[in-house]
Amino acid sequence: MENLKDQVIIVTGGASGIGGAITTVLTQRGASVIAVDINEEAGRQKVLENPTQIVFLNGDVSKESVAIEAVKLALSTFGKLTGLVNNAHASRQKPLIELTAEDWSLSFETGFNATLNFMKAAYPELKKSKGSVVNFGSGAALNGQSGQASYAAAKEAIRGLSRVAATEWGKDNIRVNVVCPLALTEGVEKWKESSPEQYDQIAAHIPLSHFGDPKKDIAPIVAFLLSDDSQYMTGQTLMADGGDIKLR
Ligand SMILES: NC(=O)c1ccc[n+]([C@@H]2O[C@H](COP(=O)([O-])OP(=O)(O)OC[C@H]3O[C@@H](n4cnc5c(N)ncnc54)[C@H](O)[C@@H]3O)[C@@H](O)[C@H]2O)c1
Repeated sequence: MENLKDQVIIVTGGASGIGGAITTVLTQRGASVIAVDINEEAGRQKVLENPTQIVFLNGDVSKESVAIEAVKLALSTFGKLTGLVNNAHASRQKPLIELTAEDWSLSFETGFNATLNFMKAAYPELKKSKGSVVNFGSGAALNGQSGQASYAAAKEAIRGLSRVAATEWGKDNIRVNVVCPLALTEGVEKWKESSPEQYDQIAAHIPLSHFGDPKKDIAPIVAFLLSDDSQYMTGQTLMADGGDIKLR
């Protein structure tokens, strides 16, 4: 399926985990990708997968300069920018009373500030291309999951920002949507080891009874939101979670 032919898309955290799967699937559908990540080794491996369509930018998404550099790299390498996927987000899980100022900064800088900075840097080019932005929320935030205060607050801030951007940028034909995934990545494997009871509890309640596969279950939904197939959708949150949460 080549529904993203000739698109040029920035994917933050695009070297591994869900972002790595998104980079792979978007290129399989015809897009070129700028994968921005702090994991240099994983980034190099990603490029080897498809050296003509994947460019790796080794950078911390919490720095505004990295967002600006990513847009410049898209233009200098591929001549345009048509999409942005704000997938990277780092945080620490603790009871909210124990979270330090540094913990709050980590979540807000890599999650909310990064999403905002990449959106601002990409805006002029997305306006030219009538592009699409896909931001990342979380079921843990919608549910108010214990231990996730700094993460949940940043994720809901991202959803609020996305709804306003969808309204303000609709006149520019830029669409902004949110995906809340549930997927078995290396990060989730680690969390499963440290919180086995929470993991079992969530898995037992998923209607499709398993955590999603990043390539088969999550990335195609992101691809859909970047493609013309979703051209009449903006400001929406899509749950890619096997039916765990049903939004109304
Ligand atoms: N995995 C899930 O089930 C799940 C559930 C809900 C929401 N999410 C959200 O989906 C997105 C991807 O999740 P994941 O599980 O693949 O995460 P992950 O932690 O496995 O991967 C994130 C990627 O981002 C990179 N990264 C981390 N900090 C960075 C920084 N400061 N600058 C640049 N790159 C950075 C990492 O190196 C990694 O390649 C995140 O927004 C996450 O909050 C995931």
